[in-house]
Amino acid sequence: MKLVLIGAGGHSKAVRDVIHSTEHTIVACLDDCYKELYFKNNMYFGPISAVKAVLLIHPDAKLVIALEDNGVRKNIMRKLMLSSNSYATIIHQQAVISSSAKIGQGTVIMPGAVINADAIVGDHVIINTRAVVEHDNVVEDFAHISPGAVLAGGVGIKQGVHIGANATVLPNILVGEWTTVGAGAVVVTNMPSYVTAVGVPATVIKTKMVRDI
Ligand SMILES: CC(C)(COP(=O)(O)OP(=O)(O)OC[C@H]1O[C@@H](n2cnc3c(N)ncnc32)[C@H](O)[C@@H]1OP(=O)(O)O)[C@@H](O)C(=O)NCCC(=O)NCCS
Repeated sequence: MKLVLIGAGGHSKAVRDVIHSTEHTIVACLDDCYKELYFKNNMYFGPISAVKAVLLIHPDAKLVIALEDNGVRKNIMRKLMLSSNSYATIIHQQAVISSSAKIGQGTVIMPGAVINADAIVGDHVIINTRAVVEHDNVVEDFAHISPGAVLAGGVGIKQGVHIGANATVLPNILVGEWTTVGAGAVVVTNMPSYVTAVGVPATVIKTKMVRDI
């Protein structure tokens, strides 16, 4: 499949590696760090506004938004106003995905990640390197499960949640939308929406301004 990558930063490098492990081909990389559309090394580079022009050249290409910030990913997806099936699902060859798991459009699964039975992962989610999404999890759109994080069975991760590196969420816990769980935290009780929680056990240290997202 031909792919248009949105984003040229650090996270995009990791996504490129995932794509290189598959049979997909990147035909364009669009980011506002590029001022105008140009062609180099068999690929187009240009600002995000050039997406329509690139899709005219490659009408069969699908997109991946390779930006780490959950809110930015959502805003770009909204601005592009493309249908959900315009986005590809990218899964590294060394990820382990249960045949009963469901993975949404625009979602990227990094190497070593495990997604177990009956888990549902939404659209534009990042399941990062060696993260574990146990059975019966529901991970909603625009979430990011960082490297090494473990979601035990039956966990619910609402839209836009960021679970930090090596954090653990205990079974059947619900983490409210746009909440951030710090690196290394252990979440033992349900978490409200729009907060930052850290530590073992995780406690809320900040409430986010809703308008920031
Ligand atoms: C939790 C986090 C989001 C907080 O970031 P922040 O809002 O900028 O907060 P600050 O850095 O100002 O820290 C606030 C307080 O929490 C503490 N803190 C920050 N992160 C912490 C963590 N993971 N565990 C325990 N305490 C932490 C800080 O020491 C500080 O304590 P103090 O007030 O006593 O000085 C961030 O530290 C974090 O862990 N992010 C996850 C990063 C990650 O895993 N990325 C993966 C990318 S692939």
